[in-house]
Amino acid sequence: MDLKIASGTANTEERHAVDSLLGPPSETSHGAKRDEMGMRVSTGGESLRKLRHLLLPTLHSVNDRVGYISRGAINYISQRLDIAPAEIYGVATFYALFDTNERPARQVHVCVDLACRAASGCTENTLPEGAIPSPCLGTCERAPSVLVN
Ligand code: FES
Repeated sequence: MDLKIASGTANTEERHAVDSLLGPPSETSHGAKRDEMGMRVSTGGESLRKLRHLLLPTLHSVNDRVGYISRGAINYISQRLDIAPAEIYGVATFYALFDTNERPARQVHVCVDLACRAASGCTENTLPEGAIPSPCLGTCERAPSVLVN
């Protein structure tokens, strides 16, 4: 895949989070290597596609270790898994427990889905300052639900 990498470089902590799951990077782990004349030769497309299922665990690893998923981390994951950064960004922003912006070490996720909204009357517009609105946290029977990370 011909990846278009935007600015942003993963820091050491982000690289460790990714490498702890995927193993250390090798010359071919970026999907390309150089031939004897120094020309870039794409390799490993099929083998890299087999690693695609590791996208969510990799995002979890970075999010758990660093607290959020930066542009640099997305670029590094893109290179390691040969997945377009836009696609990774789409996955990272789909799930409410991931964030692509730096956030405080302690986060309070308040469920604003149906059961909790009915139990508490809390909506995205009435949350206390600093609280993060969350979709269903999976504990509807005990509504209202809050998750502190
Ligand atoms: S609706 Fe709030 S935990 Fe399910």
